[in-house]
Amino acid sequence: MVKILGIMGSPRIKSNTDLLLDEALKGAQSEGAEVEKIIVDKLNIAPCKEYLGCYKDGNCVIRDDMDTIYPRLLEADGIIVASPMFFYSVSAQLKALIDRCQALWARRYILHSLPEKKRLGVFIAVGATRGKRLFEGSILTIKYFFEAMSAEYAGELLVRGVDKRGEIKARPEVFTEAFALGKTLAQKIKETTPQT
Ligand SMILES: Cc1cc2nc3c(=O)[nH]c(=O)nc-3n(C[C@H](O)[C@H](O)[C@H](O)COP(=O)(O)O)c2cc1C
Repeated sequence: MVKILGIMGSPRIKSNTDLLLDEALKGAQSEGAEVEKIIVDKLNIAPCKEYLGCYKDGNCVIRDDMDTIYPRLLEADGIIVASPMFFYSVSAQLKALIDRCQALWARRYILHSLPEKKRLGVFIAVGATRGKRLFEGSILTIKYFFEAMSAEYAGELLVRGVDKRGEIKARPEVFTEAFALGKTLAQKIKETTPQT
């Protein structure tokens, strides 16, 4: 079965980012995918301290909730990362999780011990303003986050002009796009991964 992990980067539960992620996960479920959502703000994830223990054996020396996240990231066939724009980047909560994935980067590029597995990832981002370059920085961050675990950047939903809590509810067309993003992700995985 296709496994899809949703990573919710907003501290606001059931607000714009969270609602769109739920819709994308529903789209994936409509294709038979098994979905799980993690709410980063509810986890205890310290920022990377650059101890570089992971360069020796691929494991972070810090013991916290990342212990439960690494295996879930590696088991997933698809990842949906969703974040509000905070100062033209992803939220600090999500960035901490991403930085701790230096351990996966080390497994892939230093130790060559990351098991080969094809993964696909998509990105949902929500911001209040409407600038052309609003999502540029965060897209780069997410692309290289995906690369650390050999996931291909396979799609995005970038939503401008949404600020207040739950304001996205007034934009039903965006929910349609979110559903389609999750559905297409699951379809692409089914097409490219041999199913057991
Ligand atoms: C600390 C902080 C920084 C923000 N920085 C930006 C920004 O750089 N660009 C932008 O368009 N919106 C910015 N916003 C607005 C949020 O992206 C916006 O309110 C979004 O809808 C929040 O999504 P949520 O309800 O899912 O948390 C910022 C909000 C906060 C609280």
